[in-house]
Amino acid sequence: MIPNSQPIGLFDSGIGGLTAAYAIIRELPNEQLLYFGDTAHLPYGPQPAEAIRAYSAEITQFLLGQGCKAIVIACNTATAAALSYLRERWPETPFIGMEPAVKPGARATRAGKVGVLATAGTFKSQRYASLMHRFAKEVELLENPCAGLVERIENGRLNGPETEAFLRNILEPMLAAHADTFVLGCTHYPFVQPLIEKIVGPGATVINPAPAVARQLRRILEERQLLSPELTGPHRFFVSGEKGNFEALATELLGFGVKVEAGVTF
Ligand code: DGL
Repeated sequence: MIPNSQPIGLFDSGIGGLTAAYAIIRELPNEQLLYFGDTAHLPYGPQPAEAIRAYSAEITQFLLGQGCKAIVIACNTATAAALSYLRERWPETPFIGMEPAVKPGARATRAGKVGVLATAGTFKSQRYASLMHRFAKEVELLENPCAGLVERIENGRLNGPETEAFLRNILEPMLAAHADTFVLGCTHYPFVQPLIEKIVGPGATVINPAPAVARQLRRILEERQLLSPELTGPHRFFVSGEKGNFEALATELLGFGVKVEAGVTF
């Protein structure tokens, strides 16, 4: 077996983490990915942190059982609820989390106002409070939990006047309050980034943290000497519940034919 050719595990409540997978495939083309979408428990955003922690632990167990050498929590809500817990429980495993790009947002804004789009679970978390405290003292954060947006994206409603109106309701009050920077603090939201960019206009900055997370993953794999020298197998995809639009949306985003393997239940 080629050394370090074990896959990298990624998980999210559904298709959202594919936006991280997209960036990772570009940054680390030699790495095989094993992606898990917890569609049986979607959406995570409105659920209590304890429930999300329990799902995250089950998924981690599954991914480690498949031989993953590192795990990317490709979900802001699950990172907020479970990252510390998972690191404690599996101290040998490198875990890479995702959190709203408050720091880059605070750097980018000229008006001192940053729109943050995330989920209710992320906004309620300790991790988010700590981000605000550390990086947003000098700027105002305008927050919206975007209720229903994750489900809309899972349903494949990425374009069209209805989704545009839905996003306008969220973004126009932020624009009216002079926000000039928008942070996509949920991995589902880059699926509607073109529409968000159309609404906020070319003068605003929209931040998708996925490329930065892919670079962070590279640094961690390098440090631990875990980089794979070549791609040894196809990327693999699992879901815990309904496949729904997973294959179609994943195929469109990633640019290769995605087939979900037999369902995994827990
Ligand atoms: N994609 C996830 C996130 O980044 C959560 C979406 C959800 O299931 O609510 O927060």
